Amino acid sequence: MSEGSWWRDGVVYQVYPRSFADANGDGIGDLAGIRSKLGYLADLGVSALWISPIYPSPMADFGYDVSDYRGIDPLFGDIAGMDALIADAHALGLKVILDFVPNHSSDEHPWFRESRRSRDSVFRDWYIWRDPAPDGGPPNNWLSNFGGSAWTFDPATAQYYLHLFLDRQPDLNWRNPVLREAMYESMRFWMRRGVDGFRVDVIYHVMKDAAFRDNPPNPAFREGIDADAHRFLPVHTADLPETQGIVAAMREVVDEFPDRVLIGEIYLPLERIVAYYGENLTGAHLPFNFLLIGTDWHAPTIAGLIRRYEAALPAGGWPNWVLGNHDKPRIASRVGAAQARVAAVLLLTLRGTPTMYYGDEIGMQDVPIPFAEVRDPFELNEPHKGLGRDPQRTPMRWFPREGAGFTRGTPWLRIGDDVGTCNVATQADDPESMLSLYKALLRLRRETPSLSRGDIRVLEASDAVLAYERSHEGERVVVLLNFTDQPADLPIPEPAGRVLVSTHAGVAEGALRAAEARIYRLV
Ligand code: GLC
Repeated sequence: MSEGSWWRDGVVYQVYPRSFADANGDGIGDLAGIRSKLGYLADLGVSALWISPIYPSPMADFGYDVSDYRGIDPLFGDIAGMDALIADAHALGLKVILDFVPNHSSDEHPWFRESRRSRDSVFRDWYIWRDPAPDGGPPNNWLSNFGGSAWTFDPATAQYYLHLFLDRQPDLNWRNPVLREAMYESMRFWMRRGVDGFRVDVIYHVMKDAAFRDNPPNPAFREGIDADAHRFLPVHTADLPETQGIVAAMREVVDEFPDRVLIGEIYLPLERIVAYYGENLTGAHLPFNFLLIGTDWHAPTIAGLIRRYEAALPAGGWPNWVLGNHDKPRIASRVGAAQARVAAVLLLTLRGTPTMYYGDEIGMQDVPIPFAEVRDPFELNEPHKGLGRDPQRTPMRWFPREGAGFTRGTPWLRIGDDVGTCNVATQADDPESMLSLYKALLRLRRETPSLSRGDIRVLEASDAVLAYERSHEGERVVVLLNFTDQPADLPIPEPAGRVLVSTHAGVAEGALRAAEARIYRLV
């Protein structure tokens, strides 16, 4: 592989560490568990694992509240365990990407403890403190993404501090150069240990309006339905022009080390997502493209998304696609089990780096969590709006037995009822399983340059079927996807060639069967 090719040609797999594999029986996944499953990931055929935060944390937001950027939470293991995981992964040809959470720390981070102690603390300016409004209320109308004001009053020093997420996640002040350097040094700390890159949490939030102006009302806000945060448009709290300088600086840090990747988590409209490639591609290598997460499951709509995304990419910018993550309902629940197979073919045949979410390869569905068992602070803050993220974070299933082979203890979230069929061991033996389909697609993508690095051309989309072509140096592949649960005629003449993979067993020719997707190599 040439430099930089692993994150272009390869496939990223997201591991939510609490839920992947529990080696010590406490019901919560850990690094030793992940390490024991590296062989599985290598065999599955992915290129890199991105691990959601494993740093010391009070776990108010399950690790997205970091109290030490250079350690490992004892719940997950220790630094030696992380070193061993990296070494084992590398020996298997797998890259390791860590989550990096720069927008906020935990309120238990020593920096914040110092900061809140006194207005004169040298750490005061590492966070964002403001005087109360004249009426004693919060300094402005900014809202937390998890509901309520983004400001919490701290009586000790009679000022408010800013938190765009939980009050236990105070926002760091990225206008402070000393803070910035400390954060960059934390990134270097992990890269020196062999980490291959970062997925940067809410990178588009790091800068806020220097004048602290109110956000304007959102005319589309639906009371009682939308998350509270959508009451206002985040014009002064998200995607500020100054953010680009921070992204470019992070990229420079990443580029101090060979062959590393910078991925940005960005929930913004398409034209703003692509801005995070940066001027002359000096920003993120891969600003996450979440278009498939929010879309209607409809062939012409998805054809439109592909065309718009491809047209919006800057010259030389490498695309990427995502079907799901720990914050969004699972694909198999959004579109159903049959269409989840179509989605697998889509994800792994589009142009650009795919990121898979753990468990999607066995067709895991969201697991309903009774309110008494809810763990997600978002759901607890804004109950019964369907915002909770526990259902998509339930334990991975390895075997059809109690604990699903995930744990020998009591799992931190319940395991779904369908574990008898939706598990790795059962599906590994079934050539028609979702797991076998994913493996076949990953192998095909590895072995077929037109899929891993070729051009893409949308050929046609009928109401039911999307057709596109991938091509590279004379090799041509056509992908046909039936987005309906009815048989459907092809929108183009049947490609002259061989079917390499179909979602369905048996003869694959002519009209598509219900929810069938097919990949042809043209002769
Ligand atoms: C990101 C994470 C999410 C977390 C939030 C605050 O959106 O993906 O899980 O709650 O940031 O860190």
